Amino acid sequence: MPIFWRPQFRIGHDDIDADHRYLILLINTVELVLRFPDDPRNVELALTELRRYAEYHFEREERIQIACGYIHLDQHKREHRQLLAEITAFLRKWLVDHVMKADMQLAPLFRKPVAR
Ligand SMILES: [Fe+2]
Repeated sequence: MPIFWRPQFRIGHDDIDADHRYLILLINTVELVLRFPDDPRNVELALTELRRYAEYHFEREERIQIACGYIHLDQHKREHRQLLAEITAFLRKWLVDHVMKADMQLAPLFRKPVAR
């Protein structure tokens, strides 16, 4: 099920709200390409972009929190690190599983005859 942006998601900071909207779009894209994996590269592209943008967004959010003197910064940063680790682990698992299992089934098609 895609996630739809709702007014109650708004935190009131334009940059952060714009980032959250874009992250929702990326999450929906990941869900879509996982459900219809016509080209496995699309999954890799979508996950890589989600990871890249999440990292960018978390850094931006943490800079804003530092500027505001946010007292829960450390806890929030820990949650960001945990989320990035989970995305990275998923991306790695998906890529390794896919490349080592599904793609490897193609290997015999490309095997060259041994020169004698
Ligand atoms: Fe956050």
